[in-house]
Amino acid sequence: MLVLGIESSCDETAAALVRDGREMLSSVISSQVEIHKRFGGVVPELASREHLDKIVPVVEEAFARAGVGQDEIDGIAVTRGPGLVGSLLVGLSFAKAMAYALEKPFVGVNHIEGHIYSVVFDNPPLEYPAFALVVSGGHTNLFLVPEPGRYRVLARTRDDAAGEAYDKVAKMLGLGYPGGPIIERLAREGDPRAVKFSLPRMGDGLPDFSFSGLKTAVSKHVRETGLKPVAEGEEPSQAVKDLAASFQSVVIRSLVGTTERLAGEHKPRALIVAGGVACNEALREASRELGRRIGVPAYFPSRHLSTDNAAMIAAAGTVKLQAGLSDGLDLDADVSLRLQNVGLEEDARARGHIHYRL
Ligand code: KG4
Ligand code: ZN
Repeated sequence: MLVLGIESSCDETAAALVRDGREMLSSVISSQVEIHKRFGGVVPELASREHLDKIVPVVEEAFARAGVGQDEIDGIAVTRGPGLVGSLLVGLSFAKAMAYALEKPFVGVNHIEGHIYSVVFDNPPLEYPAFALVVSGGHTNLFLVPEPGRYRVLARTRDDAAGEAYDKVAKMLGLGYPGGPIIERLAREGDPRAVKFSLPRMGDGLPDFSFSGLKTAVSKHVRETGLKPVAEGEEPSQAVKDLAASFQSVVIRSLVGTTERLAGEHKPRALIVAGGVACNEALREASRELGRRIGVPAYFPSRHLSTDNAAMIAAAGTVKLQAGLSDGLDLDADVSLRLQNVGLEEDARARGHIHYRL
């Protein structure tokens, strides 16, 4: 089955062609980072305008690189949420129009489910139940995946996503956007024990994540020590590197510690770590170590597939299309789409599909 994937939920316009849910024929990503950089974050209006400009050339490029014709595809998978509404609508409307014109089925995909599927390209088939830790600029969730297509949230962030905390701390320190890669680089030269930040804990004892208190603690530290934000072109001081390392160490200990505690209870057979923050080598190493401690393999997407892309959307959509699921042209974008307790079977029943098969 040859599927065209389309992703436009945030600030990347992406299209990919994927065969049988695992073989990536092409993956084209047009990033808007340069546009949003000077604002220190994504500006929604600029993002949707840019998606409008890029969607046609990006899809054309995906077909050209894959060397296949539009009428050779068996279906289209497109992100329908969560994300920015103006951004989502560009990809979704384009996918619907293309599906209608080509008379092919199309299916809406949850962006977070897409991130989980980003590991299928470079890893052996997964064993279930699996744990999926999705850490990006918009989400920080730990899912239990008892079987393909079924998800249960075990822990979620109460406030900021981990990537958002990286971006905000980087902005505070004058380091630019996106913050994750810059902080990771500086942290390598810093002492993670230099600044003592406490691990976030929930008052109600639930295993959720929280990163906004840590962000406030960093801001307080900056104020109290009189640390100056790094000016453009200036080499960051040792104090900034130590702060970056101390911040990152708490983020990683929090993510890995919670995952380990819940693994004791749920006994997963695989650990997936995906999303933009999964580019972070220190998080990868800590997750590999966790995998060794609990005796399960840790799977990561290749770096190209860690941040937003359309190959992961095509892979997740292929499973649904193969199960006989498709959406109608009335499908709407859902900015706060959740991924919880969805199973392929319920999904099929809820949509009234009679062709359901697994
Ligand atoms: O998955 P993604 O491209 O977009 C969302 O769905 O949010 O993730 C982007 C996020 C940004 O917050 C960025 O700072 C973070 O991923 N990120 C990193 C690294 N590379 C990207 N965070 C930590 N370390 C990195 N190396
Ligand atoms: Zn994402």
